Amino acid sequence: MVELPGDKSISHRYGILAALAEGKSEIVNYASAADCRSTLECMRRLGAEIDIKADRVLITGAGLDGLKEPRKTLDAENSGSTMRMLSGVLAGQKFKSSITGDDSLRKRPMRRVIDPLTQMGARIAAQDGGRAPLEICGSNLHAIDYSTPIPSAQVKSAVLLAGLYAQGETVVREAVATRDHTETALREFGARVESLQGLSQANKGRALKIYPRPKLQARQLTVPGDLSGAVFLISTALILPESSLILHNVGLNPTRAKVLDFFVSIGGNVKITAVQLRDGELVGDVSIAYSDLLGGTVAGTQVAEMIDELPMLAALGPFTENGIEIHDAQELRVKESDRIATIAAGLRAMGATVEEFPDGMRVAGRSAGKLRGAKVESHGDHRIAMALSVAGLAATGDTLIKDADCVGVSFPEFFSTLERLRGAAV
Ligand code: S3P
Repeated sequence: MVELPGDKSISHRYGILAALAEGKSEIVNYASAADCRSTLECMRRLGAEIDIKADRVLITGAGLDGLKEPRKTLDAENSGSTMRMLSGVLAGQKFKSSITGDDSLRKRPMRRVIDPLTQMGARIAAQDGGRAPLEICGSNLHAIDYSTPIPSAQVKSAVLLAGLYAQGETVVREAVATRDHTETALREFGARVESLQGLSQANKGRALKIYPRPKLQARQLTVPGDLSGAVFLISTALILPESSLILHNVGLNPTRAKVLDFFVSIGGNVKITAVQLRDGELVGDVSIAYSDLLGGTVAGTQVAEMIDELPMLAALGPFTENGIEIHDAQELRVKESDRIATIAAGLRAMGATVEEFPDGMRVAGRSAGKLRGAKVESHGDHRIAMALSVAGLAATGDTLIKDADCVGVSFPEFFSTLERLRGAAV
């Protein structure tokens, strides 16, 4: 039986909202991911009381207006979600705060949250061209009607969270529906968020309206297992002959689960059972068996729907009949690393044939030759380390991954879970 760590995206949201709620929340299966610890540490510095137990986190909220000015610069470490979402909260405070991150995060674009939050009335100072550290001067925000220029759940979330503090009703529109955990979690904690009709469903878009100053109430919530982490285990089972695996309590939110459809579309034997709705999120079991994969293409709106899964899908290429092609994914270049360059370099080092485009890549299928173990670089990027580990398991010979410890950013138990699964009947 394999238990997955709690979902990283959902844990961030529960951590932030519990800190803004009144009373004591209990978050069961809160992610063990270092990123989600960064969020908790920031919320603690802002005045929430946080007690981390083995399988749950207890958070006594400061209330919507109860956060206090942090004495030191907040540190989001490697976590883009922490920095971008928290910027929305900090924009609505009566105090000034600053937030920074590690070398990787300080290189990532923050203009995408600075722009809408500035339009709402916050003053935000950044480094060259909109990089962290950010200095955020909170103020009395006013509502805006904002269309996100790139599909980004983090940007949508920053605006919605700032909308809690704005005067008037804030609207966020997105051309491609990104993961909807923020709106779901806001409703769970008692905020009023409406889906607006009118934005064409044909182009897969969505519009949301948030009403300000709700009374957020503490909750007892259980975080589903992390599907984005599960994808590395699913991929392992798909490409290692004779494998079969069942994963329990996996988050199956439709805005995240398109990757499972993709696996099926390329010939993967992946089945979902025991689906239920818990705390507004779908969860269920996923069973996987070794499959003869055909390969396929990810492009257009699929990219935002599977953004975190693309390094793993690329690494599946050499184990498929026709290879894997990815287009329209320029966002991958501004993740924890330039994921197009870093996964391409790792796969090439193992003997794969990879053609790189500005917005994606083509990884040749198995006729281009079997992968062989090599010394590869994670570039400190957790998803690159995990994707190359899976490729390394199915390659001939040994693979050595530099800085493999970075998997702790999202899945600290990754290597021990793989080790346990080797040869085990689950
Ligand atoms: C996340 C949204 C995605 C994703 C990230 C987590 C979230 O980023 O890549 O790992 O929790 O909202 P963008 O919103 O920038 O696409």
